[in-house]
Amino acid sequence: MDSLERIIQVNWRHRVLFTEDVFNPSNPVLSEVLETGSGTAHKTMVVVEQALVSARPGLTEEIRAYFEACGARLKLVCQPFVVRGGEQAKNSWSNISALHEAIDRYHLDRHSYLIAVGGGALLDVAGLASATAHRGLRHVRVPTTTLSQCDSGVGVKNGVNAFGKKNFIGTFAPPFAVINDCQWFRTLSERDKRAGYSEAVKVACIRDRNFFEVIERDAALLNQFNAEAMRRAIRRSAELHVAHIADSGDPFEFGTARPLDFGHWAAHKLEQLSSFRLRHGEAVAVGIALDVVYSRRMGYLESSEAARILELLSSLGFELYAPELTLRDRAQQWRLSEGWEEFREHLGGRLTLTMLRAIGTGFETHEIDEAKVKESIVELQERHAGLVNKGLAVVGA
Ligand SMILES: NC(=O)c1ccc[n+]([C@@H]2O[C@H](COP(=O)([O-])OP(=O)(O)OC[C@H]3O[C@@H](n4cnc5c(N)ncnc54)[C@H](O)[C@@H]3O)[C@@H](O)[C@H]2O)c1
Ligand SMILES: [Zn+2]
Repeated sequence: MDSLERIIQVNWRHRVLFTEDVFNPSNPVLSEVLETGSGTAHKTMVVVEQALVSARPGLTEEIRAYFEACGARLKLVCQPFVVRGGEQAKNSWSNISALHEAIDRYHLDRHSYLIAVGGGALLDVAGLASATAHRGLRHVRVPTTTLSQCDSGVGVKNGVNAFGKKNFIGTFAPPFAVINDCQWFRTLSERDKRAGYSEAVKVACIRDRNFFEVIERDAALLNQFNAEAMRRAIRRSAELHVAHIADSGDPFEFGTARPLDFGHWAAHKLEQLSSFRLRHGEAVAVGIALDVVYSRRMGYLESSEAARILELLSSLGFELYAPELTLRDRAQQWRLSEGWEEFREHLGGRLTLTMLRAIGTGFETHEIDEAKVKESIVELQERHAGLVNKGLAVVGA
């Protein structure tokens, strides 16, 4: 047999920059990222999500003024392109087509920049459009929610939902740079400010006990959306996510594991079963709670450790039960179990789930005990009912 085989190595630089007021003309962070020292001004298009423009009507003008102040060094090819964000933006292909069409119309090329400003959903859409047009433009992310600054925006994945499945169509494409700016939170709803905390708790649970304790100490401040406490949580969460991407040896998830997706097998399904009534971060809080109770019931995790995690999530304002956990279809099939089946399918047929041995120590398991999952759900339901009776549950979150 004749064959050719070589190992192809590609190195990526993955940068997350922390700044404030990214589009203030006196802030050089973005212009320095875009100036590559080649002497040529690369074409740039900015995509902003509608919610930001509605909350801050002068925003597109601020962006335009920023580029104008940079003079000939930067070249904005058109007015900031405003698209709808939120999960609905991921549920259709039309946003991707609209972005491809604009990339074509303004003749963006492989050396051009597509800067996306928005929440995790918009970044997933813009990331996919920029990864696929011309097989990849330079993509700069400016995440504007706590969740996207803690987790999704600083990662290397993009995607849209299809066939009733989250992120069915997507790619791994490290962004050219990510710019985290906490000034965006000024217009973010309390619900969306809170939503990102669950990803910080998640990564603390599986990777960093010390960080978990910092979040515990800061819980009251985080509940009041104290800027310093939010900055601390986001900074460390982003750092742990980036460290995983750089150091795990499997940034593009070729293996059978999705180690950072603790609590996510249930979370992704809950988002979909709730028709996206639950935000990703809210569903993640329920998913973590379920896997924590399950880990304890399986004998992996001490009761005191499990109680601390549930307590922390509750004190951050999360509900740890959702009626969709017990949903059945017409044939009486339990819908949530599709969550682990989809994980299995997604990763080549071998089920790999992350569970907890202790706060700060996750581990992988390849089986799931359905009866124990059901018992865990009943326990969460009873805990929730107890809190409601005491008037302590978060209502209408
Ligand atoms: N690619 C990844 O690796 C990855 C990882 C985790 C999560 N995700 C995805 O991220 C998405 C969730 O992201 P999210 O929590 O940021 O939610 P989101 O993008 O849906 O944003 C939440 C809401 O806030 C609005 N919004 C965004 N920024 C705002 C601001 N500064 N002021 C006012 N309103 C603002 C949005 O329009 C939306 O209504 C999910 O689709 C999830 O699947 C992706
Ligand atoms: Zn997540």
